[in-house]
Amino acid sequence: MKKHNFSAGPCILPQEVFQKASEAILDFNGMGLSLLEISHRSKEFVAVMDEARAIVKRLMKLGDDYEVLFLQGGASLQFAMVPFNLMKTDGKAAYLDTGTWAAGAIKEAKKLGTVDIAGSSKDQNYSFIPKGYTVGAEYNYFHCTSNNTIYGTQMKEFPKTDTLMVCDMSSDIFSRVLDFSQFDLIYAGAQKNMGPAGATLVVVKKDILGKTGRDIPSYLNYQLHIDKESMYNTPPVFAVYTSLLTLQYLEQHGGIEAAEVRNEAKAKLLYDEIDRNPLFEGYSVKEDRSLMNVSFKLTDESKKEAFDTAWKAAGISGLNGHRSLGGYRASLYNALPIESVQVLVDVMKSIS
Ligand SMILES: Cc1ncc(COP(=O)(O)O)c(C=O)c1O
Repeated sequence: MKKHNFSAGPCILPQEVFQKASEAILDFNGMGLSLLEISHRSKEFVAVMDEARAIVKRLMKLGDDYEVLFLQGGASLQFAMVPFNLMKTDGKAAYLDTGTWAAGAIKEAKKLGTVDIAGSSKDQNYSFIPKGYTVGAEYNYFHCTSNNTIYGTQMKEFPKTDTLMVCDMSSDIFSRVLDFSQFDLIYAGAQKNMGPAGATLVVVKKDILGKTGRDIPSYLNYQLHIDKESMYNTPPVFAVYTSLLTLQYLEQHGGIEAAEVRNEAKAKLLYDEIDRNPLFEGYSVKEDRSLMNVSFKLTDESKKEAFDTAWKAAGISGLNGHRSLGGYRASLYNALPIESVQVLVDVMKSIS
């Protein structure tokens, strides 16, 4: 039986994508060859890469002033690539400290220059998104994390700053309608709404590059990847192809607009039960609640065994909270059907 998969990532993808990806491993496009045994420079794979890059721009409604890259190293390598490419040798950057991943990005940037914290919710264990700060032109860029996967907080609005806007969208990319042109650089590990682990998406405005005065190591240099059309070295072919399949599926099912409607309905169903049922308590403050990751806990720990037994018996998987927070986390990524959320809500209702 297929499980109801609430895993935070790697996570559920559309079943049709799993099917097509597995077929490509055995015989890619009727070539008599596996996707995994053809050259990344073959016309068949170059077409995959080109289409994957083009579809991202279509979904985000971005023009030719942006480039789309598929890289490796996960979002974690972006923590270092961003300052290498955007922080001047004597420069400084402003970061919003909203959780473990934001703190990871801050740590890497500090190795290359001065980092000022525009706002932080660390002293309340990242249960809300700081607001009301300003970021001036003296900063080379501002970095934020749109969705905090561990705590289940999400930025509903982005500040207007006088500098470049950089956003880690790893855990809510393609999940809601945004004006993506307000950002100068967006990055995301593929392994949530886009595909399997192994590929990292970078969307960058071309004219922001080449201004730091740094000698950037080749792999870390966005411009080199742009010049080589994401083929500087052997790309993660399986992750890129499966990402393409997921993006095609999204486009065929109403794009980001329709995904947002589905995601709002799923999140409402679960948050309504958390608010109604005195046995459960959400982690995030209400106004910053994430549509993607719902972190919550029991108000009565004596019910833990009964609850854990019940959700496992209902075929639910991946509900345990992040090891740093405990409790539970239901990740409601694009591919999770609302029926799975209903199964979870029914289990929550059954506990008393
Ligand atoms: C918001 C966010 N940023 C960064 C990361 C790290 O991503 P990766 O494992 O691709 O390096 C994660 C992983 O879950 C994440 O959720």
